[in-house]
Amino acid sequence: LIREKGWNPKRQSHYESIMALGNGRLGSRAALEECPQGAMPGTFLAGVFDTAGSIVDDLVNLPNPFELRVFADGQKLSVEAMKVIGHERVLDIRRGLLLRRTVFGKGLGGRIVFRTARFISRTDPGTCVLRAWITALDGDAEITVAGDTGYGVFNTEADWEGPKRHFAITNLQTGRRSSYMDIKTLETGLRIGYAWTTILGTRTTDNRSSIRTKLRKGSPLCVTKITNCLPAPAGKPGGLRKACVRGLARVLRRGIPGALADHERAWAALWNVSDISIAGALDVEKAVRFNVYHLLACGTDSGTPAGIGAKSLTGEGYRGHSFWDTEIYSLPFYTLNHPGMARQLVRYRLGRLDAARKNGRINGYRGALFPWESGLAGNESTPLFPDGKGGLVIFKSGMFEHHITADVALGLMNYLTATGDAGLPEARALELLAETARFWASRVILNRRTGYWEIRKVIGPDEYHVPVNNNAFTNFAARWNLETAADRLADFKERNPGPARSLFSRLHLSDQETAGWRRIAERISGTDPVRLGAVIEQFDGYFNLPHVPLPARAKSGMPVWPKGINEDNACKTQLIKQADVVTLMLLFPDRFTSEQKRESFAFYENRTLHISSLSACTYAMAGLEFGVPDRAMKYFLVSLYTDLKGFQETAKGIHTACCGGNWQTVVRGFGGAAVRDGVLCLDPRVPRQWGEMRYSLRWRGNLVRIQAKPGSVVIRNEGKSAVEARIFGHDVSLPPRLSVKRKDS
Ligand code: BGC
Repeated sequence: LIREKGWNPKRQSHYESIMALGNGRLGSRAALEECPQGAMPGTFLAGVFDTAGSIVDDLVNLPNPFELRVFADGQKLSVEAMKVIGHERVLDIRRGLLLRRTVFGKGLGGRIVFRTARFISRTDPGTCVLRAWITALDGDAEITVAGDTGYGVFNTEADWEGPKRHFAITNLQTGRRSSYMDIKTLETGLRIGYAWTTILGTRTTDNRSSIRTKLRKGSPLCVTKITNCLPAPAGKPGGLRKACVRGLARVLRRGIPGALADHERAWAALWNVSDISIAGALDVEKAVRFNVYHLLACGTDSGTPAGIGAKSLTGEGYRGHSFWDTEIYSLPFYTLNHPGMARQLVRYRLGRLDAARKNGRINGYRGALFPWESGLAGNESTPLFPDGKGGLVIFKSGMFEHHITADVALGLMNYLTATGDAGLPEARALELLAETARFWASRVILNRRTGYWEIRKVIGPDEYHVPVNNNAFTNFAARWNLETAADRLADFKERNPGPARSLFSRLHLSDQETAGWRRIAERISGTDPVRLGAVIEQFDGYFNLPHVPLPARAKSGMPVWPKGINEDNACKTQLIKQADVVTLMLLFPDRFTSEQKRESFAFYENRTLHISSLSACTYAMAGLEFGVPDRAMKYFLVSLYTDLKGFQETAKGIHTACCGGNWQTVVRGFGGAAVRDGVLCLDPRVPRQWGEMRYSLRWRGNLVRIQAKPGSVVIRNEGKSAVEARIFGHDVSLPPRLSVKRKDS
């Protein structure tokens, strides 16, 4: 249970984000039902973007199905307009249910207790249910309930663009039993239907206007608002109204208790795979579950494939765009827990391969260049910003942060390794791998003096040094991309000569070209193992920059800016925004020695500001793998509470990638589950004070339960086929329905 105690307008947006509800296709911020001043209601459908009046795609803020305007004797029940005697909300993350109890003080008609419960159905994708109970404590009151729905919403993230309404209501039919509206996004032309009804007590009331009723002192009045909100399936605009109205009728037939029970069963099934228990640290356990909740709330295995934005469906931050956050930070969770959800994310990228090819062409390259920020169509959507002097600033990541292309390929390959997905044609995956390799082959430049291929003018994960030459992260990632594409295509040719021939011919690909990729890969600047020092240099010339020691740390344990240094001049120093070389070493652990990992960790730790929420979780994971568990724990405990305690700006939405990074820290870092050379390895490092931790993984279709203690582990295969794993360095074949226990020797 995540609690909000008391009403504090300053924390309003924070709670709206952390208590947001979602079923992966539809998400809604936890704005109070009355939408007081300062509220930022946000209702988002995955993949519904628009560009009207904005420089790039905005995830559209849609009408709010949880707005409910109630008046007692003409006075609006609102934390703003009335005295608040008591206020508490509880998000039940196990059930995906948000509860509220507010006691309003003496208004015109005396004290009123206002209780609500709401959920977005996990079984019926468009269904939103809100039920309110209103009780007058001091005397009878006349209650009025507005029968409309929350159209009064705007996109407000880019404040210099002004508030934007990204949709028009193209058809509104208010009726006695229910109402329906059709809305259409202004430029992208996406259609969304809303069918809703408001019920007083057990009676469906007239939805055409406000509803009035007498409230007797002490006996609660129940108001239920049910909405069914669906996007028209791509290319099939017909039948939308019918689908929404039917959805609404289904809930009415089933009744709210039944609909809630179905919803709870679906959440229970998700938790059955994703729950993590930590016996000796209940606070940590709860915070871990909170992070997992938000990953579940934005994952889905159905509907049109859409990306997960940096703030998922919990806010307008980053305009709903997808970044490398997905593949590097969140996708491992879905891949190893809910492969159906992971497949949707993989399909989202595969579906935008043509757009990435076009993006490559526009920028003068061959192959596919995935955009740094991606929305609906997959074109580059990194926005421009006003510079405050009447001009616009280009955010350079959109031009140079090219590692995203290798990250997308890496996410896809890791997904295939873990799931062996038969639902995804291998040729499609290899096409993406080939086109991304092709991009890198055209992106590198030969330094004739050294004989090495270089990637010049590029931005690595650290966005303070822009652009640089030969960012180690990017060079290693490109190398991996080129080598893996050449290897996998050769292997495919051997196994499936026919389909391989047609793939090669479709892509105009030759053995000569793939051999060229190998030659480039072997000589990418800075990736030659024999020439690497103990500390990997982040980019050419980085070591020549002055080192500025980090001063004392903030209360959260994170470093604070040294005097005189800021985002604009950090580039002249060795200070970095976020983990860069350290992330690289986690992604390709076998390319570096233990010494390089430890030395680089210690070196960059003293230079990292952790401005991005992707950073502390990376240091936590790395600390555990590189043998500095005490440092790791420190980072973990900050990162874990990023949103719960609001260490970073949570008002505009949850830091979804950070949730993914925290999950990885628990499962990979402490739980010791890693995939090496296609093998599932388990080397738990459970802290003594935790005693025991339990988690589950899906590996090639089998559900595997892991119960780990310091120095030992019990693994149970609940699947139907044997699981091959390497436990504490020993190969084990685990038959179905059996457990094995192993000790760290
Ligand atoms: C970080 C990026 C990240 C983006 C979205 C930026 O502040 O530097 O690494 O992809 O936020 O989360």
